[in-house]
Amino acid sequence: MQTVDWLWLIHPALAVVLVYPLLGMVLRLARQTRERRIHHSKEPATVGRDHADLGQWLAGAVVAIVLVAEAVVIATGKPLAGFEGGPGRLGLLLLVLIGSGVALAALWRVRQPVYRASFALLCWAGVIGLGLQPEVFRRSDNPLDPAFWQSHFWGGIGLVGLMLFSMAGRPEIHRELRWRRLHLSLNTLAALIFVAQGISGPRDLLEIPLSWQKPTVFSCDFERLTCPPPAMPQQPPSS
Ligand code: HEM
Ligand code: HEM
Repeated sequence: MQTVDWLWLIHPALAVVLVYPLLGMVLRLARQTRERRIHHSKEPATVGRDHADLGQWLAGAVVAIVLVAEAVVIATGKPLAGFEGGPGRLGLLLLVLIGSGVALAALWRVRQPVYRASFALLCWAGVIGLGLQPEVFRRSDNPLDPAFWQSHFWGGIGLVGLMLFSMAGRPEIHRELRWRRLHLSLNTLAALIFVAQGISGPRDLLEIPLSWQKPTVFSCDFERLTCPPPAMPQQPPSS
């Protein structure tokens, strides 16, 4: 494996090591929170707060691993010297990347609803803006095409939106039943998308060749599922 292959591995590794274990804890605390409220079960009084605290870390981790994936895909598409659009575009994309990180950090701290909504939207816009760059692979951009619904990219964008929405609405979800119901419906969908990402991610990992294999593998026809015949093996020298 070369350095660039290790860079491509950062995102899947963080998903497996960080995001999915956190998701398990958040889901368990979510069930306990609901049981405590509906059935007055003997769960500790802290489960609601613990769920929201870990939920916030989960949301932050999802945004972070998506930004890492996008940055790696864009930065390693071509050697940096031949970067399409030159230093101007590179600088602009870097600014969007940093801006999205700053918006996420600000969302963590601000209290007023208008700031929470603005920073969540800014962060999501940054993630979408980077994702729409031509270097980032997207199966389809047409929701009528089945490939769109199998896309790891669009699943990721949807999930980031749902996580940021939960983070931005945290005080309202604590306070109001209406918001809690909305939160539950939206995050049931989020849990399903997490499962879908756990399938489409490893599928993409299978499809992406190591960097030294790329010239050969990308000469294949991915529509017809055929590859050019291998070059003739070299004849051993005859004695
Ligand atoms: C897949 C992810 C998630 C699922 C399935 C989920 C599910 C739930 C459920 C079932 C409840 C209890 C609702 C009730 O009592 O009727 C809840 C409460 C709550 N969730 Fe989540 N949640 C998720 C992620 C998040 C995230 C990312 C945040 C952001 C900080 C969050 C914040 C909250 C808050 C503040 C409450 C109210 C807790 C309380 O009653 O004190 N959740 N969630
Ligand atoms: C929370 C779950 C996940 C989310 C939200 C997510 C989201 C994304 C997004 C938005 C991209 C950039 C678009 C693209 O290149 O397709 C991406 C890339 C990628 N994802 Fe995921 N992903 C998740 C989990 C996984 C898992 C579990 C794996 C594999 C084990 C995986 C493997 C990949 C691979 C191989 C890429 C290509 C680029 C790279 O590795 O940096 N992802 N992901």
